[in-house]
Order: sequence, then structure tokens, then C-alpha cells
Amino acid sequence: MVKTVRVGVIGLGSVSEKYVPHMRRLNLEGTPCEIVIGCDLRPGKAERARNWGIPNFTTDYREVLAHPDVDVVVILTSMQSHGQLTRDALNAGKHVLVEKPMSMDLAEAAELVALAKVSKGHLVCAPHVTLSPTYQDMWRHIHSGDIGRPLTARGFYGWAGPDWDPFFYEPGGGPMFDLGVYNIATLTGLLGPAKRVMAMTGIAIPERIVNNRRMTVQTDDNFQVLLDFGNQCFGVVTTGFTIQQYDVPGIEVYGTEGTITMKAEDWDPRGYRLWRNKDGFWQDHDMRSRWPWTDGIRDLIQAVQQDRKPVNAPEHAYHVLEIMVKSMESGRTGQALPIVSTFTPPRFDRATDRIAPHLDHAPE
Ligand SMILES: NC(=O)c1ccc[n+]([C@@H]2O[C@H](COP(=O)([O-])OP(=O)(O)OC[C@H]3O[C@@H](n4cnc5c(N)ncnc54)[C@H](O)[C@@H]3O)[C@@H](O)[C@H]2O)c1
Repeated sequence: MVKTVRVGVIGLGSVSEKYVPHMRRLNLEGTPCEIVIGCDLRPGKAERARNWGIPNFTTDYREVLAHPDVDVVVILTSMQSHGQLTRDALNAGKHVLVEKPMSMDLAEAAELVALAKVSKGHLVCAPHVTLSPTYQDMWRHIHSGDIGRPLTARGFYGWAGPDWDPFFYEPGGGPMFDLGVYNIATLTGLLGPAKRVMAMTGIAIPERIVNNRRMTVQTDDNFQVLLDFGNQCFGVVTTGFTIQQYDVPGIEVYGTEGTITMKAEDWDPRGYRLWRNKDGFWQDHDMRSRWPWTDGIRDLIQAVQQDRKPVNAPEHAYHVLEIMVKSMESGRTGQALPIVSTFTPPRFDRATDRIAPHLDHAPE
């Protein structure tokens, strides 16, 4: 009998509209789980919890942490509160999934990673890009040598920018934490930890209309970030609230023997294309079904049920945070900055038992 994992969700805003249905689907599809309590500072969200059939609602997150039935706490609140909520949930002995970033502060994030090592519960940090079948197939091609030695890589994610919340243009907001985070998680997952970062950043559009009001932009909205992976392998991440439309793949990796390129975005990939010099043509791989970017919740619930570690370690999220924070610093100072943290990317060899069979559809 598979154990039913009981979940408390803190933050019933827009992202909960993705996570909650995902958990309900998991429950119907053989991963038994149940949301036992929802929480939001806004009392009006009680109605949303009721409509979703969540039996309890509170405005005080401490009630979620004290709830004896809750195994997993899912933190979907605004960015500034993630650090404290994650710390309190781990201290309460719960398994935790936290949306990005786990903290906006490197010292606090380091404390959380250390706490997760000794606490009873697992810590899973978004984004969950390494769980997508497209990513995992690309990982296998790169690591089986299909494109030779990776030499250079590119990540791209941007748009014109949100017009509904001033937070995005205030200190602590900006496209790096909101968008670039996906590309950096993907490229470091595929190529390993970065050793150095250098960036050009700036405020390209100093005034915005947000919620029908004119506001002054206080944080960088335009980024070109250079990454040094060592061994003469370099990457560039382009992100910004400065891009109206684009027509390039979200991720590309170029090696001595070929190229691999992701179709669409790394948070919503649709397959990939592989060029090998020895073939002399592009192999086209479409994905049969859409992958949900909330997939970290499946992995965490299954990790609890299968008594294993989740695929993604918090050290990866910390490494990505260090790159993001230092890219902003590099943009201010013009200096290339060393990245001191490191992590071991998850492996997806055919032999590994860490890959779920339903994700394993690499071409023979
Ligand atoms: N909106 C997106 O498309 C998107 C996509 C991926 C990830 N994210 C991440 O998900 C997180 C949430 O984003 P969102 O768009 O759902 O925000 P949101 O503003 O729609 O919802 C956040 C909710 O959290 C509640 N909240 C804040 N602090 C709380 C606290 N201490 N206790 C209880 N409730 C609290 C707020 O009242 C609000 O209802 C952010 O970290 C964001 O970076 C957002």
C-alpha cells in the first residue's frame, strides 16, 4: 500500500492554481495525496480553498506547521516571505517545497541548505526544470557524448514585463529572479556548476504603467549574463522585461561534434533538435505530452512514498541563487565575480534508478 501524503499549501494566489490541480491529478493517477489545509494572509481566499475541497483554511501559517496530519508544506507565497516560512517549516519537521527563490539573501539561503541537511524533512526548491523529459533526454545526449565536448551554450527567456504588480520593478523583483532563474538552473544542470559570472545589466525602461499607475523602475530590467563553466566552456543568458517577442530556442548547447537545442522554453519544453556532425542532419524529437512546470511536487510526494531523496538537491538552487545575486553585483561593478558554491547535478543515465520510468523515453 502506498502511503497517502498529506499536504498543507501556504499561499493561495495565482501559482496555487497550477499546483493544486496537479496534486489532485496525481492523487487520481496512482500517487495518493491529499491537501488537508490551505493558508493565505487574505481571508477571502477561504472561498478558493472551499471550492477546491480543501477541508481547512487559516490565515496563520503556523497552524499549517502545527497541523499533525501535514507531511509536506508547499510554500507559494510572495518571494520576500520564502526564507522565513521555509526555515519554520523545516524546523517543524515537515518536508518542504518552496517556489523560487528559496530566499533573496545568500546568507539566509546557506542557512536553509544547512538546515535541510539535518532536518527530518526534504527541501525541494523551484524551478523544477531538470525533471522535464526534454531536459533529461538532452542531458543524456550531452553526457553520452553525442555533441562532443560542450564548448558554448545559450539560455533565453524574456518578455515585455508584467503590468499587474509594482513588486516586479522594485528592489528584490526584476527578470533575473523571475525568468533568468530557469535558464541558469537548466544550464548549470546540463553543464555543471559555473565558476565565474560577469554581466551587463541596467534599467532600460525607467518608467512603467503598472495597475494603471505610472511608476519609476527601481531594479534592473535588462540582463546579458556571461557564465564560465571552466575548461573553456562558456554560456550566455539573456533575460529581461525588455523583449516583446522572440523566435529562438530557450536553450542551446554547442559541442565539438554537434548541437542540441530545446524547442520552446525550459519551463515548458516541447522536445528538442539534435545535430551530430556524423549524421549531417537535424534529428527532430517532439514530446508526446506537455510537462507541468510544477512537477517538483510529484517528485517530492513520490520521494516521501518511496523513501528516497528528491531528484533535485537544495545545493543546486543555492548555486543558481549565487549566480543571480552576483550577476546583479557584476552589473553594478563591471567586475567578473567568482562563484564559490558547487553542487552535483542529477544524473539521468539509463542505468540509474532515479529516473521515473514514465519519463524515460530517450530515442534508442
Ligand atoms: N505567477 C507565476 O506565473 C509564477 C510562476 C512560477 C513561479 N512563481 C512564483 O510563485 C510564488 C507566488 O507567486 P504568485 O504569482 O502565485 O503570487 P500571488 O501574489 O498571486 O500569490 C501569493 C499569495 O501568497 C499570499 N501570502 C503572502 N505571504 C503570505 C504569508 N506569510 N502567509 C500566507 N499567505 C501569504 C498572498 O496573500 C497571495 O495570495 C512567487 O515566488 C513566484 O516567484 C510565480
